[in-house]
Amino acid sequence: METSKRFEQVRERQKRLEENMARIKHKLAILSGKGGVGKTTVAVNTAVALAEEGFKVALLDLDLHGPNVPRMLGIEDAPSARDGLIVPVKYGPNMLVLSIGMIVEPEQAVAWRGPLKHSAIMQFLADTDWGDLDFMIFDLPPGTGDEAMSLMQLVKLDGIVLVTTPQRVAVDDVLRAMHFSQEMGHRVLGFVNNMAYLICPHCGKRIETFGDDSSSVLSQLLGLECLATIPLEPRLAKFLDEGKTALMYMRGTEVEKAFRELAANILSRLGGERA
Ligand SMILES: Nc1ncnc2c1ncn2[C@@H]1O[C@H](COP(=O)(O)OP(=O)(O)OP(=O)(O)O)[C@@H](O)[C@H]1O
Ligand SMILES: [Mg+2]
Repeated sequence: METSKRFEQVRERQKRLEENMARIKHKLAILSGKGGVGKTTVAVNTAVALAEEGFKVALLDLDLHGPNVPRMLGIEDAPSARDGLIVPVKYGPNMLVLSIGMIVEPEQAVAWRGPLKHSAIMQFLADTDWGDLDFMIFDLPPGTGDEAMSLMQLVKLDGIVLVTTPQRVAVDDVLRAMHFSQEMGHRVLGFVNNMAYLICPHCGKRIETFGDDSSSVLSQLLGLECLATIPLEPRLAKFLDEGKTALMYMRGTEVEKAFRELAANILSRLGGERA
């Protein structure tokens, strides 16, 4: 292909990306230092909480090697295509979802290096029919590798939510993620203290998993506000494996309350007007 033609294609794609992103009011990334701390759990439940409030929400899974969003939402459909654009999968009346896990088989490892990942992310952002949205929530793999880097270069995020568990080693890593986000010019809204305590199933007493008052200790260490403190709740893990969100299947529990509080805190920090 001629070089000028290739340049033209790149320019057009960049333009499509900018046009798509301009139609989305708030772009929010969920990031952590460590793996397995609950990013996808937070991304999925925050998206559902906002969609239940009546906002138009998209959840874009950018964990290309470990796309867990479809399973956690129980989505088995694949995206379709229209006029050369990807059409994301609808989840309820207000939510769109897109994940590489909907395209490749679950057991198929995605063996991609940086440039290919960048190009896949570009395609998700530019070559997808997102329409007008209030929120786009990005679920990321742990740490600050290619996916986070590409996203933060391509999109001006309105906020980043850090997810951590309350151990000192997790804090060290989340600090790195926080500095990285700030150096890339993005605003960190605060953090989620996940698996912070558990409720004894026998006596109903609260057991702090990593010492008392971990949310305020974390808040001091990170210099950030705690947006939600989520208990360690075995039923949550089971429900997520079955594609059942905490908001719909754990009504009236501390877990549901924590996710609703998180959504409310995000809204108040971003200013939650509809598109
Ligand atoms: N508060 C919680 N109580 C019980 N289980 C939880 C809680 N939060 C997350 N889990 C479970 O812990 C596991 C890891 O959570 P999740 O996949 O959301 O983490 P992650 O940070 O996205 O992981 P990765 O870094 O691999 O993407 C999942 O099985 C999830 O169901
Ligand atoms: Mg995840």
